[in-house]
Amino acid sequence: MGIPAQHRSLFRRLYYGVLIALCLLVATLWSQIRHYQPSRLRVQWAPEVRFTEEPIQPIPVENVANPQKIALGEQLFQEVRLSSDNQVSCLSCHKFERGGADDRAHSVGIRGQATQVNTPSIFNVKYNFRFNWDGEFENLSDHLEGLLTSPSVMNMQWEPLVQKLQQIPTYRREFAQIYPDGITASSIKDAIVVYQEALTTPNSRFDQFLRGDKQALTATEQEGYQRFKEYGCVSCHQGINVGGNLFQRFGVMGNYFADRGNITESDLGRYNVTRDPADRFVFRVPSLRNVALTAPYFHDGSAKTLEEAIAIMVKYQLGRSLPPKHIQRIAEFLRTLTGEYQGNPLG
Ligand code: HEC
Ligand code: HEC
Repeated sequence: MGIPAQHRSLFRRLYYGVLIALCLLVATLWSQIRHYQPSRLRVQWAPEVRFTEEPIQPIPVENVANPQKIALGEQLFQEVRLSSDNQVSCLSCHKFERGGADDRAHSVGIRGQATQVNTPSIFNVKYNFRFNWDGEFENLSDHLEGLLTSPSVMNMQWEPLVQKLQQIPTYRREFAQIYPDGITASSIKDAIVVYQEALTTPNSRFDQFLRGDKQALTATEQEGYQRFKEYGCVSCHQGINVGGNLFQRFGVMGNYFADRGNITESDLGRYNVTRDPADRFVFRVPSLRNVALTAPYFHDGSAKTLEEAIAIMVKYQLGRSLPPKHIQRIAEFLRTLTGEYQGNPLG
């Protein structure tokens, strides 16, 4: 018995063939391992995966829920009866054509009183973690309660407000259709809060860019975004609202207030809420969504242009001075944050 000679040589050839193939495999694997660089993997990621890596996220595009409540909230937002002298509505200060803010440094409330601070935008408020420059309020319902009864804003009390609205048949009917108890403090608050939460401005050119459309921004706007990240603006202005999710001192790298002079109580910022000395001059970092439309800037309304506001940030928050061209590029990027309200571009 035994394997015939010609078969034996066939086996031997097969054996050497497998051996050579194995050697080749080991050699290829070895060279792959030697040249392996983790960063190479990134190149292959799809844009949808990559934007989750970005420090800024697009505003979600959501379907409108509760259209009836929103319609009622919209009427109340424009209703001057919400103020004690029937002179101001929410819209008087939060102007849609001004990015939901006011073009004056200080807005004018009831009896011609000027507000202590610049009016921030009403758009995208649902993405802020606290409300007002000093972050006094933790939710929109408490915030509304505060401003409605504030002597310098609406100077209103619930009882007389409910009575005023009861006299108007359309309000009686509309409230009754949605709320079993009709017109009450809590139903008024609910309708206005639901409306405010619907005031989002998705689909800015920058959001289109984040979602993968690289053509949505010009080369210089993209450079502006790179500078915004490189210089560290993004360490404070980040998340869905490009701000609105942190407290920070105004004047980390220099004394903005001493240089500006004439310090007022509202300059103390978060200190007014906590009375903690460490919170003096600390503010909620504002959102930069639609910032091209919301001049003047800062809680004191002191910066008239976007370029001026950026230069102040560079000086007092970063402790640097940048070539004007870089400030220009950052401004170009910030102008791409203007979104759409109900499908129409703001502005
Ligand atoms: C007289 C002008 C004026 C009127 C009227 C007014 N606001 Fe404001 N609003 C302001 C100012 C100023 C601030 C900032 C206050 C602060 O930071 O202390 C503000 C802040 C806000 C904020 C917080 C935004 C944020 O992100 O911090 C919301 C929400 C808001 N207002 C909603 C309303 C609603 C709703 C009404 C009507 C019921 C209204 N406002 C009426 C001037 C006004
Ligand atoms: C250390 C945190 C921090 C850094 C870094 C920072 N900011 Fe700010 N930014 C703030 C705070 C806080 C405010 C609010 C100041 C105030 O008005 O009280 C603000 C306000 C602004 C405003 C005005 C917004 C408005 O609606 O009034 C703009 C514009 C702005 N920053 C852009 C930038 C740019 C561009 C950079 C980078 C060059 C930058 N910021 C870096 C914290 C920061």
